[in-house]
Amino acid sequence: MGLFLQVFTVLVITVSLQGWVPLGCLEEERIALLHLKDSLNYPNGTSLPSWIKADAHCCDWESIGCNSSTGRVTELDLWSVRNEELGDWYLNASLFLPFQQLNSLILMDNRIAGWVENKGGYELQKLSNLEILDLESNSFNNSILSFVEGLPSLKSLYLDYNRLEGSIDLKESLSSLEYLDLSGNNINKLVASRGPSNLKTLWLENITIYGSSFQLLQSLRAFPNLTKLYLGSNDFRGRILGDELQNLSSLESLYLDDCSLDEHSLQSLGALHSLKNLSLRELNGAVPSGGFLDLKNLEYLDLSYSTLNNSIFQAIRTMTSLKTLNLMGCSLNDQIPTTQGFLNLKNLEYLDLSDNTLDNNILQTIGTMTSLKTLSLSSCKLNSQIPTTQGLCDLNHLQVLYMSDNDLSGFLPPCLANLTSLQRLYLSSNHLKIPMSLSPLYNLSKLKSFYGSGNEIYAEEDDHNLSPKFQLESLYLSSRGQGAGAFPRFLYHQFSLRYLDLTNIQIKGEFPNWLIENNTYLQELYLENCSLLGPFLLPKTSRVNLSILSISMNHFQGQIPSEIGARLPGLEVLFMSDNGFNGSIPFSLGNISSLQAFDLSNNSLQGQIPGWIGNMSSLEFLDLSRNNFSGRLPPRFGTSSNLRYVYLSRNKLQGPIAMTFYDSFEIFTLDLSHNNLTGTIPEWIDRLSNLRFLLLSYNNLEGEIPFQLSRLDQLTLIDLSHNHLSGNILSWMISTHPFPQQYNSRSSMSSSQQSFEFTTKNVSLSYRGSIIQYFTGIDFSFNNFTGEIPPEIGNLSMIKALNLSHNSLTGPIPPTFWNLKEIESLDLSYNKLDGEIPPRLIELFSLEVFNVAYNNLSGKIPARVAQFATFDESCYKDNPFLCGEPLPKICGAAMPPSLTPTSTNNKDNGGFIDMEVFYVTFWVTYIMVLLVIGAVLYINPYWRRAWFHFIEVSINNCYYFLVDNLPILSKFGFS
Ligand SMILES: *[C@@H]1O[C@H](CO)[C@@H](O)[C@H](O)[C@H]1NC(C)=O
Ligand SMILES: *[C@@H]1O[C@H](CO)[C@@H](O)[C@H](O)[C@H]1NC(C)=O
Ligand SMILES: *[C@@H]1O[C@H](CO)[C@@H](O)[C@H](O)[C@H]1NC(C)=O
Repeated sequence: MGLFLQVFTVLVITVSLQGWVPLGCLEEERIALLHLKDSLNYPNGTSLPSWIKADAHCCDWESIGCNSSTGRVTELDLWSVRNEELGDWYLNASLFLPFQQLNSLILMDNRIAGWVENKGGYELQKLSNLEILDLESNSFNNSILSFVEGLPSLKSLYLDYNRLEGSIDLKESLSSLEYLDLSGNNINKLVASRGPSNLKTLWLENITIYGSSFQLLQSLRAFPNLTKLYLGSNDFRGRILGDELQNLSSLESLYLDDCSLDEHSLQSLGALHSLKNLSLRELNGAVPSGGFLDLKNLEYLDLSYSTLNNSIFQAIRTMTSLKTLNLMGCSLNDQIPTTQGFLNLKNLEYLDLSDNTLDNNILQTIGTMTSLKTLSLSSCKLNSQIPTTQGLCDLNHLQVLYMSDNDLSGFLPPCLANLTSLQRLYLSSNHLKIPMSLSPLYNLSKLKSFYGSGNEIYAEEDDHNLSPKFQLESLYLSSRGQGAGAFPRFLYHQFSLRYLDLTNIQIKGEFPNWLIENNTYLQELYLENCSLLGPFLLPKTSRVNLSILSISMNHFQGQIPSEIGARLPGLEVLFMSDNGFNGSIPFSLGNISSLQAFDLSNNSLQGQIPGWIGNMSSLEFLDLSRNNFSGRLPPRFGTSSNLRYVYLSRNKLQGPIAMTFYDSFEIFTLDLSHNNLTGTIPEWIDRLSNLRFLLLSYNNLEGEIPFQLSRLDQLTLIDLSHNHLSGNILSWMISTHPFPQQYNSRSSMSSSQQSFEFTTKNVSLSYRGSIIQYFTGIDFSFNNFTGEIPPEIGNLSMIKALNLSHNSLTGPIPPTFWNLKEIESLDLSYNKLDGEIPPRLIELFSLEVFNVAYNNLSGKIPARVAQFATFDESCYKDNPFLCGEPLPKICGAAMPPSLTPTSTNNKDNGGFIDMEVFYVTFWVTYIMVLLVIGAVLYINPYWRRAWFHFIEVSINNCYYFLVDNLPILSKFGFS
């Protein structure tokens, strides 16, 4: 009994202790957090998912910081936790009162317009420990100031991008405030109504100054202790800034980026003697002599993206205190004075001259700036060799050197070994000869990153006695296809690699498992086109962090290892295309829940497309094209599928498209071309509302184009060619077409009849927005479409390629086609079109390919001007009543008048009788030749083949293959 009591007491004590000893957080605060979550109400409680009633450890919840010893909540980061669409709302400030130790409260971007009741706002003042309050991007007005001014400890207040207006009064009670951001409001005056202020940092960027900026700047005198002032993105033209700011005797940093300053202002800045940091990015106009250039104490000067001339180099040479100078993108285009000039800046540690046109001499002369730690000469059009002795190599404090995107050539000079402080070296995209062994860099013991891609990487005998002093973290050496023979020896001694890119180096080895095993932090490994071979064997180690692996374009054979999912569990990108893999896709891949992009194209894989792919919720990019996959498509991908790019073309898929992508709302590109798919285009196609590219060509699809296709208002490229589709393309075009009034009045053609015809079909067609303008390519060729070409196609003003050839279309070429100002390829051949070729087509100045051969067109060929001067006979042939150059048939009265309405005003009517004789003889000859050819072809199969080959070649001259020529289909790159 006694023992029982003892145990019971211990139990009771333990239980009750749990009641008040915080399990990571105070119960009172935990409940308050749950109340807070309820009030945030977005969307229906789905924000802040880790804030769960059943979980006692509220300090582990997201967006919360606790004091580790007291367990009390000190930070609340409620940034964008409420759905914007819910509009402005009022927050109950007393919800924060339980958090008495709160130090930092972030409520940014929640569309809060104020507090539920005024009292609630004032209760905020009880948060006596609050030092940081971030209310950026809400809808507060000036009244917010009276609520926050009582906060005794407040040091930083963010009120930028709210609805503050006019005069802002910072009362004495805000005396603890050191940092204030009022950017993006509409303020014209600041007042410190009672006495001094401790304000040190003030942001007033992008203020909508309706009144006088003079008043605003003058009012800053009330804050004499200001040290940092941000005034960027304001228009200060006509102000004398220096004079107005002169009282700010503590001002050290002034930011005037993108401020449209005039010469007077720039002059007057010279009065701000205390300035150490000055930023004048995007300055336009002449820099005056004197002025801010006289600020002898300036240590930081940023003039990047300004329009400067080369005299700046002379002008800044007296600023000898400068440590940082940024002249990036300043349109400098001349020789930097090599004597004196800015090279005198002996204290400079950071120099950015990138994106200018510099003289090669800079590489020699820069050696005098021996304090430099960071030097950027990227994109400077340097086209010499790196000097082998003095100059660059003298910068022995240099830690970071950017020289990418120039035209540097030659070998890496041995003197680079002197740069013993160097940590990061960027030499990508030059014409340098870089040895695969990296031997010129072996002395650089601090080197962590080397970017050498896009140069000439060459193999070199490894010197057995030398090994590098560096342990690299990033190595980018992708080349333009040079050979190396083997992995360089030094790589076997690297253990800190995170990023390695050897793309296009012909290594001719096996897959380097040892790299993954040695470098346990390896995240990205690019071994594309490295001539690697053998089976693809995975490392045995389980400590693999790899997130990107690309082994595309090698000669790997055999099956993909079945354990790939377990061995590479963190993969996000896996590219294995263009190898010799066979077998099926291993099931374990489905377990890589992080996989976003997966490319197995152009292998010899077989079996069915696995249905579990539709459950990989991170997968956005899937390319299984050019394999031997067969069977039907999986019945229906899961609703968790986020697929955006799907390439399954050039396989042996059969059966209908079924419901596979019924729930794949995110799909952007769907390529099922070159398979044996049957059935119709599914009517649910309009569920894929993000679809831009739809490629279904080379299948056996039949039936009509479903009108639902017209609801895809993002569609820009559609290829349905080489199927058995039938019906009228008109219905689809009409339904996508907005029929704006101005179209009908502008065009001479009346299209109302056609539209009427289709509205009587009793199909309710919903039309959304500006669909049709955005098409860049339509290919309906090689189908059984009938009916007329809808004139509405003339509204596709963005279209670049239109191919309707090899159908049975009738009627005229719509005159509206002259609107297709962007069109590059127009193929209407092999139809039954009649009437004239609209003469205004000559206004299509982008047209490169034009083909109307094999129709029943008549009349005169459009004038041979502009692009039409380049189209030859083959583009018009086999239209019995077509005449004029480049056809041999000359237009004239011999033509039946009804068929050549334009030939009556033909100016070449002189010599009429002679011409008539000519036509008669011409026609006789022509018919004879045709008969002879026909007879020969009928009799001789070889000639027949040759003849059809000739026709094919002629057609190809006029034929434009849509998909190959439009860049939009390129896969999205990850490297
Ligand atoms: C939230 O709930 C309302 C009413 O219950 C509902 O109409 C709305 O669709 C829901 N919103 C979300 C995002 O679930
Ligand atoms: C300035 O503010 C306006 C509206 O407040 C915003 O739309 C704009 O993007 C801002 N401009 C800059 C440069 O921040
Ligand atoms: C400026 O700050 C100093 C302390 O750094 C303080 O003593 C002084 O009172 C402040 N001046 C004003 C005008 O607030």
